[in-house]
Amino acid sequence: MEMRALLGQRLLERLATAERFAVLTGAGVSAESGIATFRDPNGLWAQFRPEELASMEGFLANPTRVWQWYQYRRHVIESAQPNPAHIALAKLEQIVPTFTLITQNIDRLHQRAGSQRVLELHGNLEDHHCAQCGRPYQGEISAEIAQPPRCPSCGGLIRPSVVWFGELLPAGVLAEAEHAARTAEIFLVIGTSAEVYPAAGLPLIAWHHGAMLIEVNPTPTHLSSYAHAAIRQKAGVAMPHLVALIEQLRSNC
Ligand code: APR
Repeated sequence: MEMRALLGQRLLERLATAERFAVLTGAGVSAESGIATFRDPNGLWAQFRPEELASMEGFLANPTRVWQWYQYRRHVIESAQPNPAHIALAKLEQIVPTFTLITQNIDRLHQRAGSQRVLELHGNLEDHHCAQCGRPYQGEISAEIAQPPRCPSCGGLIRPSVVWFGELLPAGVLAEAEHAARTAEIFLVIGTSAEVYPAAGLPLIAWHHGAMLIEVNPTPTHLSSYAHAAIRQKAGVAMPHLVALIEQLRSNC
């Protein structure tokens, strides 16, 4: 179905005039960059056990296994390139007055595509810190390092600065994301199964505060019933068209 018809007249009018846009992305936005998602049939959680690899308990039980799994993911991410969805979102940020990109991803492909204001709810894979004292770790993390380094201050194990299951999200980042959701007029939900909270609650906060939701995902999610429009396409295909349409609508105003 053609994008305009799919969005409908009311949404087209809002897209033409809205001041405040917010976006929540998940692993699906990086799928076309060759980075595996988590809950798709061939996703990471079909191959690995999250409690063993993405939790403090799993890390302390087997630091080397967790360290090497993140080294593997870092290698995949470093070999990946931003795809047209990341690039389209960086362009959208330039088109609209207020834009907040909230991501659950740790791959920093949004930043590599040129996005400026990115809220990383689940941390990122570039930064590291001590699992014991919390100090940021400044040492070089090369692919050859097969064991977690030791903290120069306390001797604790160094871990990636990603948010593991059971851990709190960075408080300031979550507060900013919730503010963006509360004030958004348009909220895009792209490439997330919306299974993990509090991230998955952000589109609902936006909806409750009157935002119009657009979901971009080949597969329906439990957010779909709240969406004013669902674009059942891959993000790398849909996003360039959606952003071009938004640019056209706003240039006609
Ligand atoms: N374009 C858009 N969406 C896609 C694409 C694509 N090319 N490919 C897959 N998807 C969709 C899937 O249909 C699915 O709904 O992306 C979603 C990916 O869902 P998950 O694998 O659950 O990833 P995500 O929602 O980001 O997971 C949230 O869970 O394990 C934790 O910390 C991890 O940040 C992650 C969080």
